[in-house]
Amino acid sequence: MLKIANIRTILTAPEGVDLLAVKVETSEPGLYGIGCATFTQRNLAVACVVEQFLRPLLLGRDPQYISDIWHTVAGSSYWRGGPVLNSALSGVDMALWDIKGKLAGMPLYQLWGGKRRAGVTAYTHVRGRSAEEVVQKAREKLRQGYRFLRCHTDEAEESCGAELYKPQDAPAGAYFSPNKYQCAQINMFKLLREEFGWDVSLCHDVHERLTPTEALGFAREMEPFHLAFLEDILAPEQSEWLERIRKQCVTPIAMGELFNDPKDWLTLVTQRRIDYIRCHISQLGGITPALKLIPVCDAFGVRTAWHGPCDITPVGHAVNIHLDFAAPNFGIQEWMKEPGERLREVFPGTPWCKDGFLYVTDSPGTGVDIDEEAAARYPCSHSLPAWTLKRRPDGTAVWP
Ligand code: CO
Repeated sequence: MLKIANIRTILTAPEGVDLLAVKVETSEPGLYGIGCATFTQRNLAVACVVEQFLRPLLLGRDPQYISDIWHTVAGSSYWRGGPVLNSALSGVDMALWDIKGKLAGMPLYQLWGGKRRAGVTAYTHVRGRSAEEVVQKAREKLRQGYRFLRCHTDEAEESCGAELYKPQDAPAGAYFSPNKYQCAQINMFKLLREEFGWDVSLCHDVHERLTPTEALGFAREMEPFHLAFLEDILAPEQSEWLERIRKQCVTPIAMGELFNDPKDWLTLVTQRRIDYIRCHISQLGGITPALKLIPVCDAFGVRTAWHGPCDITPVGHAVNIHLDFAAPNFGIQEWMKEPGERLREVFPGTPWCKDGFLYVTDSPGTGVDIDEEAAARYPCSHSLPAWTLKRRPDGTAVWP
């Protein structure tokens, strides 16, 4: 019988972002799988769960029983879910699917019914200190072949020179003006449409920073620009408000990178309050739950737009793209920026973008390997980023 012989975590930061990969080794020499368990802000907690709890739980089991292992791990803590436990579970789950693909001799998308499209359409990020800078950078991205851009101007950020009226003893922080933020984005989209016309898809991420009524007004103001979607217009805690936004405007809504549990998305999908689901696959607990989420969304006309930031490993990006190739309701794939040379060195088989389309290798499994010697050359800093908290001018802390 094939057995799980070892489970290890590999921490590495080839490009300055802390990443966490999980390697599941089997009793068959040379047969192993790699998963993404990155939760940059809490990687050490995730690594502890994998090494101290999942390793002893799973050693000796047959790695082919993915569904049973998923449930065994999820249930083993009794209190389940949340980003730390789900990321740990994801690392193992993705690695087991990688092994499954290698046993079958097929890339993952083949296991899920084969490719439904020749390339996976990507959107990339364009960010600038002014609307003019965004236009200039957008022109360069369009020249590279992208036809779908996420645009954001930082004019409302104090760090970019916005003048705010603040009380004397306001604590240090990332201050922004909510009014100026909205005006600046509206002016930027006006300029983008004037410059590039209507044959370019544009989207914007609000990052939950508005109050519900501000969000409603902002979604309406965005209507004339025909955005592909407006993302995280509200924090998940306020998602009941989406019903009102839906009734009052047609700006498409994307949400989901913060979801961990089916309870977070089920009502939003079945009530058709979102157009795109943006889950971060490792936050869900890996591929196994994603394969259940996709057909539910499809039945309700909701398309996928998986979270694809820099703080996931190329294994995580590859998993996104395999799902994108196979899903009937694929919408768009986030691809924040091109992986650099160091990342490709540590993760041979890293996916790539050409003319705005994403591709994976045709190697069995995820198609991404890890060079552990190279990984060890780029240690993690375990420092916390500043972007996770913003402040309004009076000092009130708000979501990012
Ligand atoms: Co986002």
